[in-house]
Amino acid sequence: MTPLYVLEGVERRYDRGGTTVHALRGVDLTIDGGELLAVEGPSGSGKSTLLQLLGALDTPTAGRVAFDGQQLAQARDATLTGLRSEAIGFVFQQFNLIPTLTAAENVEIAMVPRTRSKAARAQRVTALLEQVGLADRRDHLPSRLSGGEQQRVAIARALANGPRVVLADEPTGNLDSVTATEVVDLLAGLCDEQGVTVVLVTHDDEVASRARRRIRLRSGEVVSDTGTPA
Ligand SMILES: Nc1ncnc2c1ncn2[C@@H]1O[C@H](COP(=O)(O)OP(=O)(O)O)[C@@H](O)[C@H]1O
Ligand SMILES: [Mg+2]
Repeated sequence: MTPLYVLEGVERRYDRGGTTVHALRGVDLTIDGGELLAVEGPSGSGKSTLLQLLGALDTPTAGRVAFDGQQLAQARDATLTGLRSEAIGFVFQQFNLIPTLTAAENVEIAMVPRTRSKAARAQRVTALLEQVGLADRRDHLPSRLSGGEQQRVAIARALANGPRVVLADEPTGNLDSVTATEVVDLLAGLCDEQGVTVVLVTHDDEVASRARRRIRLRSGEVVSDTGTPA
C-alpha cells in the first residue's frame, strides 16, 4: 500500500534579515493512511512548519514531500488547490471561524460548491453538525458558543469535503482539559471509525497519549518516533 505521506530530507529555512532560521533540518517521515499521529515538541521546534508542508500550504527549501504517491513539487497548481480544499482538512488552535456566520454557515461555506446542489449541501451540513454533537447549535454565531463548541464547528468545517487527512495544530490549546478530551475523542473517532488520517500537533502529554504513534521534534529534527506501525 502506498503511504499517505512520504517526506524525504525535508528542510525549511527562513531568511530573516540576514540570519537564517532552520525551522526543519532534514525530516524523513512516512505516514500511513488511517494513522492517528501526535506531533510533540517545544515551541519553535518546527511543528507548525511541518503541518504547513503536509497541508501543501508551503514548500520545502530542500527535500521532497509526496502525498498519496505524488510529489507535491511536481503537482500542478490546480492539483494543489484541489488537495487543500478537498483532500485535506485544517483545524487551528484559534478555531478561525467567521464571526458573522452561524455554525451551519461556517461549515457550508467551506464546501466546494460545484460538487453539490444547495439541498445536498444543507443535508451534509446537518449531518456534519450532528456528527460533532452540535445539531442544536446550528444557528448560533461563534460568539454564542463555548470554546469547545467552536472547535467542534471547526472540525465539522474541516470535514466538509470528506478529506482523507485532518491536520490539527494545537487544537486543544485554548480549551480546558475536559473539553480538550472531548475534542480529541472526536478526532480519534474520525480516525477509528472513518479511517481519516489525523495529524495532531500538541503540547499536551495527555492529548498526545491518545495517539498510538507519537513523534517529537526538537530544533527542526525528529528526535523520537514511537509506535510506528510495523
Ligand atoms: N514565516 C516565518 N518566517 C520566519 N521564521 C519563521 C516563520 N515561521 C516559523 N518561523 C521560525 O521557524 C521556527 C519553527 O517555527 P514553528 O514551526 O512555528 O514552530 P512550532 O510550531 O513548533 O512552535 C521558529 O524558530 C520560528 O520562529
Ligand atoms: Mg506552532
